[in-house]
This record gives sequence, C-alpha cells and structure tokens, in this order.
Amino acid sequence: MQNYKELEPADRVIIALDMSAEDALDLAEKLQGEARWVKIGMTLFYKEGPAFIRKFKDMGYKVFIDLKLYDIPHQVQGAIGNLVTIGGDMLTMHTSGGVEMMAAAQKAVEAAAGDGQAPITLGVTVLTSMDDATLNEIGVNRPAAQQVSLLAALTKAAGVTGVVSSPWEAEELRALLGDYAAIVTPGIRPAGAAAGDQKRIATPAFAVEHGASHIVVGRPITKAEDPVESFRSIVKELETVQI
Ligand code: C5P
Repeated sequence: MQNYKELEPADRVIIALDMSAEDALDLAEKLQGEARWVKIGMTLFYKEGPAFIRKFKDMGYKVFIDLKLYDIPHQVQGAIGNLVTIGGDMLTMHTSGGVEMMAAAQKAVEAAAGDGQAPITLGVTVLTSMDDATLNEIGVNRPAAQQVSLLAALTKAAGVTGVVSSPWEAEELRALLGDYAAIVTPGIRPAGAAAGDQKRIATPAFAVEHGASHIVVGRPITKAEDPVESFRSIVKELETVQI
C-alpha cells in the first residue's frame, strides 16, 4: 500500500454493509459518488455470492470482502485468488494460519492481480470476541495484547500488507509494521453516536491520529437518518487530522 499518511480522507472510510442485500444496494446507491469503499461480510457473501460483489463494483465502489480465510495454504491460496478475480479490493485471512499460509495467499493475490493494482491483504489477529480466558481455552497462555503483537508481526514476515485492529492497538501496530502497512480499525463511533454492542470504541479522528490507515464504520452511517450527511461529517472530521 502507499504511505498511510498520504491517503485522502474519503479513501479511509469503509462502510460495513451488515444488512439485507436489498438494503445494502439501496444504501450504496444513496452513497454513490461520495463513499468509495464498502465492506461485505460472510453473512451476505455466502448468500449472494460473486454477482453481488459485481453490483458494487459497477457502481464504482472498492469492495472489502471480509471472509477471514483460514485453511491449509493450498486452499487459502485458491480461495483468495478467486476473491481477487471477482473484484475484491481488500481481503482478510487469519494470521493464526501461519506464515506459510499467509505467504501462499499473498502470492496468489499478486498473481491474480497481474498488472493491475494488487488488493490490500489484511491479517486478523485475535478476534475481539476473545479475551485471555477464551485464548487460554485454546491453549494460548499469553495475554491477548501480546498475542496480537506476535500475530501481527507474522503478517510482515509473510508479505501480507496489513492488519485489522482495534483503534486502541493501532499506535503500537503502526510502530511495528511501518508507514506502508494498512491498519484497518472497526469499533468507530463519531462523538455522540450510539455505541451499540461495541465496547472499546474510538472516534474517527482518534483512530487515524493513532495510526489507522482506514476505518470501518457500520451503524453510525447505515442507521443514520441521513447516511450521506453522516459520511460527509466523518470525512470532515478526518480532514482536520494532522499526521
Ligand atoms: O456497526 P459497526 O460500526 O459496529 O460495524 C463495525 C463492523 O466492523 C462490523 O461489520 C463488524 O463485523 C466489524 N468488526 C468489528 N470488530 C472487529 C472486527 C470486525 O466490529 N473486531
């Protein structure tokens, strides 16, 4: 990726479309020409498939297909190559698959992209639904924060372009991964927005000031009375950030 400091504010905002296919397309139409990124998660993708991704591409969006791949290298390599072919611009895999799996995935992404711009690849470290106790359950005995750093460092070894992280971990991960890594942070709430089920939230400006290259924003935009206005005010907030 380019140096994260040089991204335009509107390029930093990824809208999480966690809703029905119909509502997602309606919202994308409203935001067309303003927003640049949408995120499709596994619930929608497994129902609607590649043709659904194409609809957003045809509207001019870059699409983050968030399937968090995890399997033997050969499978992940095949799967992620196919996600590039169907139009994915940002893709996720589990770092716990190891360096060999991630390196195979990265190679497949670059091969599938050919002469075009290679999509951004991201490693998922410790799921935010897990804590020290649930890590312990699966045999990981170090604290979650240490496990996040250990796994994030593996993305660098594998050539994967970045990580998904909490805004509160972004600063440390930025120091670890350097200015050319993508650090994509969900858990974003503009001042005054409802937290919903998110716990460790941060404002858009906080996330970017602390090293995020991109922020994932769902309900503060998707449930807003005026989603376009909400998107614009987030971009405006990011325009004030000095990094
Ligand atoms: O609506 P909200 O802004 O909370 O949506 C955040 C998006 O980011 C959702 O798609 C959610 O699945 C995703 N996400 C998250 N926390 C993580 C990883 C992904 O909220 N640790």
